[in-house]
Amino acid sequence: MNAFSYRPNSDHTQRMAPKRVLVIHYSQTGQLTDLLQRITGPLVEAGIHVDHLPIEPLVPFPFPWSRVAFFNAFPESTGREPMPLRPFSAAEGPYDLIILGYTIWYLNPSIPITSFLLHPQARGIIQGRPVLTVIGSRNMWVMAQEYVRERITALGGSLVGNIAVVDRSGNLTSVITIIRWMFWGRKDPFLVFPHAGIRSADIQGASRFGDLLADHLKGGSLEGINDALLRMGSARIKPTLLVLERRATFVFGKWRRFIMARAHANPQSRIRRVKFFSIALPMLIFLVAPLSALSVKVLGLVKGGTLRKEIEALLRY
Ligand SMILES: Cc1cc2nc3c(=O)[nH]c(=O)nc-3n(C[C@H](O)[C@H](O)[C@H](O)COP(=O)(O)O)c2cc1C
Repeated sequence: MNAFSYRPNSDHTQRMAPKRVLVIHYSQTGQLTDLLQRITGPLVEAGIHVDHLPIEPLVPFPFPWSRVAFFNAFPESTGREPMPLRPFSAAEGPYDLIILGYTIWYLNPSIPITSFLLHPQARGIIQGRPVLTVIGSRNMWVMAQEYVRERITALGGSLVGNIAVVDRSGNLTSVITIIRWMFWGRKDPFLVFPHAGIRSADIQGASRFGDLLADHLKGGSLEGINDALLRMGSARIKPTLLVLERRATFVFGKWRRFIMARAHANPQSRIRRVKFFSIALPMLIFLVAPLSALSVKVLGLVKGGTLRKEIEALLRY
């Protein structure tokens, strides 16, 4: 475990100074912002100073999305290619904790957050600091988190824990509700389908993590924070979703190469291929995913023990 305790300060005045937390995030519709507000609410109540650093693309993404714009974000999301961000600066540190909130785009961190993690200024903010990640997404986040963990380490930070709050609906149900939300901006329940996105009870319930964080910060040590968060249900990995996610990551690599194959010589070819992908991906999800899920269940029976051990390791920091 890579728990982080910050050194007690010998200077009395500094020891008495309020703890400081910096929240870095990008949220397009405000869902992740709500989640982070629930988590940081108890910190503010406990007298902890909370600063915010919203990350914004220089050219904002549209919302609701057009079909082409949505699928055209695929190559840069999966290729983890940075985009220009609006100039930003963090208030003078040092912070006792950095909370990095992000959402998942095509199994990767959203492009604005990848761009932050690759930005020349990121090191100055992250280096030497304990970092807690907060993910608000539909369901699969494990591969993205592995990348974020790598980047935080490369930037000289120390990942102390993760909170992943996801949509509790089934995989196919949430594909339908999220498409309606992203393309038409509608989150309300319809026909047999539930409200899109993370349930409001789960967003509200995330304040319990804030209570725990506040206690640890006030106590001056983040030692054991991830284990304590896990006991409160901060992150769960379903074995079947993990196998599906790994398969999808592999297939996404192939799609990315296909879309980008002639893009430099002929930009129109990228758009044509993105349009094809925008039809093929939903078809693949609805035709192939159920079969894949079945084979994953069988695999789960055969390799259940190994998978559980892998999941244990993926949840530890
Ligand atoms: C281009 C795009 C791709 C997305 N791909 C995924 C995905 O692969 N997996 C997932 O769980 N959610 C995916 N989402 C949903 C987001 O993770 C997130 O839940 C949603 O965009 C709302 O987040 P917000 O706080 O930024 O508004 C995607 C959203 C967008 C805009």
